This record gives sequence, C-alpha cells and structure tokens, in this order.
Amino acid sequence: MAKIKTSAIIPAAGSGKRLKSKTKKQYLEIQGKPLLFYTLQVFQKSKNIDEIVIVAPKNELTLTRKDIVEKFKFSKVKCVVEGGIERQDSVKNGFDSISTDTDIVVIHDAARPLINVDLIKKVVASAGKNGSAITALQITDTLKMAVEGVVKNTFPRENFWRSQTPQAFNYNILNECYDRKLNEEAIFTDEAQMVEYAGFEVSLVEGWEYNIKITTNDDFKLAGFLLKEFNV
Ligand code: C5P
Repeated sequence: MAKIKTSAIIPAAGSGKRLKSKTKKQYLEIQGKPLLFYTLQVFQKSKNIDEIVIVAPKNELTLTRKDIVEKFKFSKVKCVVEGGIERQDSVKNGFDSISTDTDIVVIHDAARPLINVDLIKKVVASAGKNGSAITALQITDTLKMAVEGVVKNTFPRENFWRSQTPQAFNYNILNECYDRKLNEEAIFTDEAQMVEYAGFEVSLVEGWEYNIKITTNDDFKLAGFLLKEFNV
C-alpha cells in the first residue's frame, strides 16, 4: 500500500487583539523562543506529518521565514503564505499552497503550543478511517443557556463537547467544500463546522485539557507554566 501523504496547515495570521501587546502573540517569547516555535517543533518532529504550510500576517512573512523557519531549521515547511481577514480565509490560503497529492490535511492553530505528537497521530488515524476527525473534550461543567445574565435553559452535558485543534480531513473532502465555495457562504469558526455544513460526518478523538488556545494575557502566562511543567 502506498504511504499516506499528510500536510499540516498552521494558521498564525490572527491579530491577537485580546492580548494587549504590540508584538503579535504568535511571536511573543516564552523561555526565549517565539510561541510559534513551540507549535512548529511538534509538527517537525511528528512522523505523521510530511509537509507544513504556515499562514502568517502580511507584515510578518519575512520575520516568520527568517527568524523562525530558517533559524530553527524547520525543514518540513514548504512555504509561508499570507493570511486573510477571518481564520477560515487564512486556512483557505494555506490549503491553496499544500501539495495536491496530499491524502490528509491537518489543521492546527498556531496559538495552541501545547500540541503533542500523540494528538496528531490519533487525529490523522481517525481521519484516515472516517474522513474527518477533530480533537475535543467532553464538557464536565453544567451547561446553561442565558440571555442578558438570566438563565433560560440547562442542557444535558453528556452530548456536548469542546472542539480543539488539531483537526484532520481527507484532502478531497476539504477540496469539495472549497469547490462548492461553502467558505464564502458563512463564517465557520473551525473547518469541521464547514465540513458538517457540507453534510459529511466528523468523528471525535479525545483532546487534551492542556492544549489551550492562547487568547488572553492569563492564557499566555499559563502556557509558559505548562510548557515548563511538561518539559516542552
Ligand atoms: O481567532 P482565533 O483566536 O480563534 O485564532 C485561532 C488561530 O487562527 C490562531 O493561531 C490565529 O493566529 C489564527 N488566525 C489566522 N487568521 C485570522 C484569524 C486567526 O490565521 N484572520
């Protein structure tokens, strides 16, 4: 059987407005290295990844190429491309640059540096079997629906999951969504939502509680602590 080819898209083109800093969060340093370094090193190391496309802000393309990809010798990086207005626009730009003979596409937020090779392995295996897969965590708190600070409903939490990245898809499934221009019909906060909208099933793989997305200053502090704690 021919080897499965897997490409990773790393959207890193967010403006990071909620983190009040002049430097965009993906370039802020934790233990002397930019946040994006930590995310990329796991994809570089993973035996399940053949190539990486990074999506960066327009003004940071050279910085990303020189100060991250070249400096840390991330040899799997095929190219660094410019991002778009929404996350889904950035991912689409990345998709346009991956090799067209790719079998599985893995998408992972640059802002989640606590990714590990095991999560990548599990999500790629599930996408290989089922077509589409996401890492997610079952909700353990009680889930309330509220309007203007007043609870209107309580949901049975057994059926609710928090979706994370990495997410993985058969190349042809994403390609069909883009051919049908579904990404222009609505705003999807992750690609799984677009794939569900297209009518495909998406499988769940157990995520990891500490694979947090860095959004606020507190998340940034927590990520520094966690990266140290887990010896990343
Ligand atoms: O916007 P959000 O915090 O969900 O971003 C998740 C990831 O998507 C981050 O790594 C961010 O850099 C990236 N992103 C992007 N292009 C955008 C918005 C977000 O690549 N326009």
